[in-house]
Amino acid sequence: LHIVHIAAEMAPVAKVGGLADVVAGLGKALQTNGHLVEIILPKYDCMQLDQITNLKVLDVVIQSYFDGNLFSNNVWTGTVEGLPVYFIEPQHPSKFFWRAQYYGEHDDFKRYSYFSRAALELLYQSGKKIDIIHCHDWQTAFVAPLYWDIYATRGFSSARICFTCHNFEYQGTAPAPDLSYCGLDVEKLDRPDRMQDNAHGRINVAKGGIVYSNIVTTVSPTYALEVRSEGGHGLQDTLKTHSRKFVGILNGIDTETWNPSTDRFLAVQYSATDLQGKAANKAFLRKQLGLYSEDAPQPLVGCITRLVPQKGLHLIRHAIYKTAELGGQFVLLGSSPVPHIQREFEGVADQFQNNNNIRLILKYDEALSHCIYAASDMFIIPSMFEPCGLTQMIAMRYGSVPIVRKTGGLSDSVFDFDDETLPAELRNGFTFARTDEQDLTSCLERAFRYYSRKPMVWKQLVQKDMQIDFSWVSPASQYENLYHSAVAQARGVAQ
Ligand code: ADP
Ligand code: GLC
Repeated sequence: LHIVHIAAEMAPVAKVGGLADVVAGLGKALQTNGHLVEIILPKYDCMQLDQITNLKVLDVVIQSYFDGNLFSNNVWTGTVEGLPVYFIEPQHPSKFFWRAQYYGEHDDFKRYSYFSRAALELLYQSGKKIDIIHCHDWQTAFVAPLYWDIYATRGFSSARICFTCHNFEYQGTAPAPDLSYCGLDVEKLDRPDRMQDNAHGRINVAKGGIVYSNIVTTVSPTYALEVRSEGGHGLQDTLKTHSRKFVGILNGIDTETWNPSTDRFLAVQYSATDLQGKAANKAFLRKQLGLYSEDAPQPLVGCITRLVPQKGLHLIRHAIYKTAELGGQFVLLGSSPVPHIQREFEGVADQFQNNNNIRLILKYDEALSHCIYAASDMFIIPSMFEPCGLTQMIAMRYGSVPIVRKTGGLSDSVFDFDDETLPAELRNGFTFARTDEQDLTSCLERAFRYYSRKPMVWKQLVQKDMQIDFSWVSPASQYENLYHSAVAQARGVAQ
């Protein structure tokens, strides 16, 4: 199949969170299976250019429509993680992707409607026969209505559209007239069964992605159930109406990027059969961060996250205090797009300034993230909701035992060590259900008890976790099946 992903992020060139990992990981897995996979991204000024090989600008300039005019776009190409990527650079006076950050701009709705239209224009003008156009999150969900309402009527209609919603909290809403910037017909789409938002006078792009795509997915089976009720943030009825084309597929992780036996960021590489290497990484990180380390057997708890309410901020804070009380060590690596949250955690960091068992590093740091996965014994994810979550899988691959709240994709990937209703081989971490601090406390205490009192049991658990298959092999084949049946259906319709 010829598959094109249109997205706002891709690891490692333009990464904010898990979406970036998924675009790269799924793309690579599909390519390995013999498909022709291409990616289209905006050309952000803040991208990691050193992660692109053979970056060059193409001769052709693509004209695309926006707000009553045509604008030129330079198109760059390059290879990222072995995948061909096109970067669109608009020559628009608003300098849409020249903002020194990825998201959080006042005109995000405009920026991404522009990008979605320009990306489709690039595909249309290329004349390529594409089987699947896969868009991700609201930023590129404009693609679905644009494709069927504008491009298909121009004879560009061979492709089927797949929309993956990675997080229903973010839906992309705006006053209804704003939809017309990218050329969509507001009157036609501003209807309850199309793109009308529940809030009066607004339009909802994620809803358009659901209504207009041939395939709609989200990133775990449990989250797919949750969003059919209140987890859908208002889209539950739309999802129910379109439930026949909606499915949850648990993400994988890129097992080349996340591989402790080859990871170039680590002080020492290691594997499940050589845990001394893991201990060396722990010693190294403790030294690097100035944590107390002499003859200190206490467990190191890691947490790597965007600091947003979804991630259970009060529980993250509580886990830090509780770990200090239990005599463990805690390393948080995180940053927040919300200034008051960032300040709040800076305050917590200040409180622990003179405590050499606790460190909060409040920034985004790819290299350090690898070192923390490798150094930590436990990894905490107390999310309020979690569509999939990748950090629990990465943590396990690095032998850090996850402690998670049972929600969304965390419920589909972490199974409590003490839950005797489950087969023993499945039990790989510690889970709790409630959002209050007490439930987390007892879960953390339980993990600490195993760590300190049953070292052999703990070691076996670590080794088991490191060997679980979280690769993209199975999820990619599930996507392939969906793609194939959508393409077959299309052929059926065409005959
Ligand atoms: P989300 O996409 O909701 O942020 P995921 O668990 O799906 O959550 O993915 C988070 C990804 O971002 C992981 O690869 C994680 O290692 C990475 N990450 C999050 N915060 C940071 C940070 N401060 N520094 C480096 N990497 C981070
Ligand atoms: C979103 C979700 C996260 C998921 C990621 C990749 O950012 O918050 O749970 O793992 O997308 O699908």
